[in-house]
Formats: sequence, C-alpha cells, structure tokens
Amino acid sequence: MRLEDFKIQWFPGHMTKAKRMMESQIKLVDVVVEMLDARIPRSSTNPMLQGILGNKPKVIALNKIDMADKAQTERWLEKLKGSGLPVCQVDCSTGKGVKQLISAIQLAAKPVIDKWLKKGVRNRPVRVMIVGIPNVGKSTLINRLVGKNKVMAADKPGVTRGQQWVTIAKGLELLDTPGVLWPKFEDPAVGFALAATGAIKEDVFDRESAVELLIDFLLRKYPADLQTKYAVSLEAEDDVNSVMTKIATSRGCLKAGGLLDLDKVDQLVLRDFRTGRLGRFTVDEP
Ligand code: G4P
Repeated sequence: MRLEDFKIQWFPGHMTKAKRMMESQIKLVDVVVEMLDARIPRSSTNPMLQGILGNKPKVIALNKIDMADKAQTERWLEKLKGSGLPVCQVDCSTGKGVKQLISAIQLAAKPVIDKWLKKGVRNRPVRVMIVGIPNVGKSTLINRLVGKNKVMAADKPGVTRGQQWVTIAKGLELLDTPGVLWPKFEDPAVGFALAATGAIKEDVFDRESAVELLIDFLLRKYPADLQTKYAVSLEAEDDVNSVMTKIATSRGCLKAGGLLDLDKVDQLVLRDFRTGRLGRFTVDEP
C-alpha cells in the first residue's frame, strides 16, 4: 500500500452544505475558535475557513494534547505561533488549558471591543463560536466552557432554533452548538491522518490499507511503542507484513485451523492507536 494510493470516498455535496451553513453562522460571531487535533494539526485544519473568516479574529485550540507526542506538540506550537496566530493547547477530557483559552479569546477580541468603543458602543458582549472538523472535541470543549454557567442569553436573530448564547466569562457569549468544518480529503496523506485518528468513519475508507500505512508509520517513527505494547521484538529487516505476523502471533490472533487472523490485527492496532492505548503520537510533521 502506497500512501499516494490511499483514498477516502466522500461527497462534495456535503461540503457545499457545510460551507453555506458556516458562512451564515460566522456572520453572527466576533471571534472564532478553530479547534485542531494535536495529533494531526495540519490534517484537521480547514483550508477554506480563512476565506470565510476574512478579518475576523481567530484563536486556535490545539486539543487532545494528552494523546499527542509532547515534543512534536512543542514544535507545532512554535510553528503556529510563528505564523502570528494566537494558539492554546487544551485537553478537553480534563479541562486543562481551558482557562488560558478564555484569556486568549478575550485578548483576540480586544480590537473588536476597541472599535465598538470608538463608535460609542459599550457593554456589548463578544460572541464566540467553536469550529472544527468532526470528532476534534468541539462538543466536549463547549460543555467545559458552559459548565455551570448555563445562563441563557436572550434568543438572537439568525440563530437556528435550539441554539443558544451562553455567557462563559464576563462579556463573552458562546454559541452552544459548534460549527462543523469539512476536512480536505483530496490529499492522501490527510486522508490517512484522518482515518488513523478516527476523525472519519470506517465506512469511507479501507481499513486494511489504513492499518498497513499506520504500521509503516509506527515502524518508522515509533518502533519502541510497537515493541512494548505488543511484546514483539523488531529487527532492522522487519516490514509491515512481518510486523503484522509478529503482532498476530504475540496476541494470539488466530482463525479456525490455526491460521493468523490479520483482520483481527487490523482492528486491534487501529483501536489501540485511536484510543491512545498504544502511546502518544503525532502523525503530521510540523
Ligand atoms: P466533536 O464535537 O468535535 O465532534 O467531538 P466530541 O466533543 O464529540 O469529541 C470526540 C471524542 O473525542 C469524544 O470521545 C471525546 O470524549 C474525545 N475528546 C475530546 N477532547 C479530548 C481530549 O482533549 N483528549 C482526549 N483524549 N479525548 C478527547 P468519544 O470516544 O467519541 O466519546 P466518549 O468516550 O467521550 O463518550
């Protein structure tokens, strides 16, 4: 399996609908928080968001840092900060970094508030929305931010029924439903990163191919984790097939008649990788 042959089946119609929705939602807010997955900061970003945002301030929340390679996260933070974007690292599963994110949103909103003050507008709350591709942790972040502050602001025009503005800090109102962005599936490397981390459902890609690429990636970048987790010893001449065989043997993945059950290995490796049981990994290079 070559990376350039990895394909995701997906439908441009979904993108058009999501884009239209995003355009109308963004009109309602003053600051956007784009949530990225720290394991795949490049693949979880949306290529068209900037165009839709225009000059609107954006804060990046690098989430799931608990699952990403620490050293790589540092490098990603440097890179993103270097491009002039306000960026915060968060672990929404524990709430780590969420306070700093609120401060970053307040800082990003300052020019907006100053502009309002010049026009004589005071005490207008800054409206915020969380956006990101599916499964990055948007809802988890919203729940963290909203927490016990479930103070409903009045219904505002343009917000779809059921959506609410919730005060999350003094002068900050959050839209309680996230904006869903679509990833850029055209690049096979991005497709692989999304498939491996579980950002996309298994019915749109071939699991066997994804796991082949995943084992190849682990063998090159994180061989020690493979050895430890599956209690296998790796040699310089090992390749994807021999590693699969070693894992199957070590884990007793067998079919009737004693044949190795490689499907089971596929399921096992993918699950262990996605849940963090295999270790902490960053798939996208900074
Ligand atoms: P979404 O709204 O962007 O689609 O994502 P959502 O919040 O539903 O989160 C997707 C999955 O990611 C959830 O797991 C959630 O618990 C997990 N998650 C969110 N933030 C973090 C984080 O910082 N670290 C880790 N390790 N996980 C995070 P799930 O398995 O789909 O559901 P559940 O097990 O929480 O029920």
